Amino acid sequence: MTGDGRLDAQLRALRPSDEEFVEQAFRLVLRRPPDEEARERALAKLAEGTLSRATLLHELVTADEFGRVRELDDAAAAGRAARRRGERSRRLQAPPGTDERVIEIPWVLSRLREGRVLEVGYAYAEPAYLAALVAELPGGLVGVDLAEAEAPGIETVRADVRDLPFADAAFDQVLLVSTIEHVGADNTVYGLAAEANTEGRLEALRELRRVLRPGGSLLVTVPLGEPGDHGWFRQDDVRGWTRLFARAGFFVEEQEAYELLDEGWRAAPTFRADGVRYGERGPGASAVLCSELSPRRLRRLASPDGWRRTARRRLAPTYRRVRPHRA
Ligand SMILES: C[S@@+](CC[C@H](N)C(=O)[O-])C[C@H]1O[C@@H](n2cnc3c(N)ncnc32)[C@H](O)[C@@H]1O
Repeated sequence: MTGDGRLDAQLRALRPSDEEFVEQAFRLVLRRPPDEEARERALAKLAEGTLSRATLLHELVTADEFGRVRELDDAAAAGRAARRRGERSRRLQAPPGTDERVIEIPWVLSRLREGRVLEVGYAYAEPAYLAALVAELPGGLVGVDLAEAEAPGIETVRADVRDLPFADAAFDQVLLVSTIEHVGADNTVYGLAAEANTEGRLEALRELRRVLRPGGSLLVTVPLGEPGDHGWFRQDDVRGWTRLFARAGFFVEEQEAYELLDEGWRAAPTFRADGVRYGERGPGASAVLCSELSPRRLRRLASPDGWRRTARRRLAPTYRRVRPHRA
């Protein structure tokens, strides 16, 4: 019986040329064009009949590379869906063997604001994350980096985050995903200069405070664990990062620590940095701190409510523990 559309579907699968099929399959599954060697191999085998189109798709979907595509897709989809529901993702979980992006991406996407948003360090960001930002903020996204990269849908600016070519209060929100720890460090891995400027992170945060409007939000994620200089980035514990944010003139509005355990990524409200070292539990950080900061303003003190809010913050511990998320 062919009236149920199955023959039509089979014919459609055969319609594109082998060249078109291989190109589309790679772009759809691995989210990239095929490399030359893979393209030639697939075309030769398809021509001689030792590979079918279904088997090519099977090979792509079962490749290790697709595992990463899937993790990042899941992370971006979860963050975007939470934003649509008006939820700020908390107590996220992700499987073992993954890096910190699977936590950082949904955490940040769920807190994305409307308006003009600056993404700092976009040049080496995951395309799945950038695509989600472009989809959520059509026309409102500016990317800044010292390195250059093509990024359709994003207004890109090549600049040092410590000295930005933007007016004061130009942005409603700034996003800093695993980037601040690299400022002033040895950035040769990104094709940039090697520096050893221990004040680089502070200078960058002060500059970002300048370009953020009063009432704006800075979402920052950083590797967490035993404090130390790794040459290409600097890791800190919760106290170290929180002090840095305060020195740059920011309030911590919300903060959540996550740790990579045997069972995967889990929220760590009582996180202890002892023995938590970068790269020892998975492919990247062993723990990550996700924070939402707001520019500190003296003006707050002028209103009774501002005074109360400021007093409450001063009395609260610098690292606020996040209450278990109620379903
Ligand atoms: C680890 S990568 C960023 C990861 C990315 N944000 C993500 O979402 O996966 C660090 C980035 O910081 C950029 N960078 C380092 N120092 C910088 C500086 N002083 N000003 C601007 N960008 C800088 C590098 O070029 C690189 O793109």
